Amino acid sequence: MNQVTQLNTSWSQRLRRREQPSHSELCEHLLEVHRQHTGFTEICASRSRDPEGRNSYQWLADLVDPDRHRNLLDLACGSGALTALCHQRFGKRIALIGVDMSAEELALARQRIPDPAVALHCAMAQDMGFIADQTLDAVLCHWGLTLMDPVEPVLAEVRRVLRPGGLFAAIVDGDLHAAPGYPELHHLIYDQVQRNYPGYGDIDLGDRRIRTTEALAGLLAQTFRGADIRIEPTVVSQLADAHALAQEAAGFFYAAFMLSASARAQMLQQIAALFSAHGGDGLGRFSMPINRVLVQLAAS
Ligand SMILES: C[S@@+](CC[C@H](N)C(=O)[O-])C[C@H]1O[C@@H](n2cnc3c(N)ncnc32)[C@H](O)[C@@H]1O
Repeated sequence: MNQVTQLNTSWSQRLRRREQPSHSELCEHLLEVHRQHTGFTEICASRSRDPEGRNSYQWLADLVDPDRHRNLLDLACGSGALTALCHQRFGKRIALIGVDMSAEELALARQRIPDPAVALHCAMAQDMGFIADQTLDAVLCHWGLTLMDPVEPVLAEVRRVLRPGGLFAAIVDGDLHAAPGYPELHHLIYDQVQRNYPGYGDIDLGDRRIRTTEALAGLLAQTFRGADIRIEPTVVSQLADAHALAQEAAGFFYAAFMLSASARAQMLQQIAALFSAHGGDGLGRFSMPINRVLVQLAAS
């Protein structure tokens, strides 16, 4: 993460002009981020732990019951951290599929999961026609839903591929104010980015309804009629060298890739100071609010 080049995509140019980017510009932008920074999500996500000591991949995988969930899709699987965890935990007891639009992320996933029985598809979540209707028992999505726009076709695809009684579960943003220091971190990054892109925040990646619990619950209720829907909050955090942690946490925010080298360096100093203020014993603390979304479909 030390060598970070400022992103310049048609998505970012639109933002500079305060114009709404199109779906294909969003895809191009996301593909470019993941081409330049393959595997960046898992660095921060795998080290940050909830009060029980679990990272968010483990928290999501805890929902899988291999007796009931025999066919499982990891949607927007990225570099395959969750797919690999499920493969390790359940082995041949479950059939695993990973889907992601980034070829670079999938190549990393394939490296860590050489087993050809785990199918990895380079495809859009909005169009998974290669998966037949009602053939999956569970769809998991770790930090992917937040980026998807339009998101309704994604949810419709999830509903289509799930069997009656199936489970959809995802990790998404939690309430900004639920973790100490998180609103400050968010403002610090966005304030810096907004100096060059005043519209950033009003216009952001994905569909903003995924980021607020109430709107998300409404969207899910529309798509998954009759399902049992729950949204469970927690906070994941880690204690480490404040400067290293600042690099890592900034890498988790797509907005931070929009900064020039000098603006980024300045922001990293500020983040390190913020983490130090929340840490102790010479170390910094990063805390992040997350939500685990559970949609349990009715049995028939
Ligand atoms: C934040 S990363 C998360 C990756 C992985 N689930 C993890 O947590 O380590 C988001 C992933 O979503 C993928 N993605 C975003 N929008 C997508 C879409 N519409 N269809 C398929 N993949 C998408 C990106 O390519 C990226 O790999």
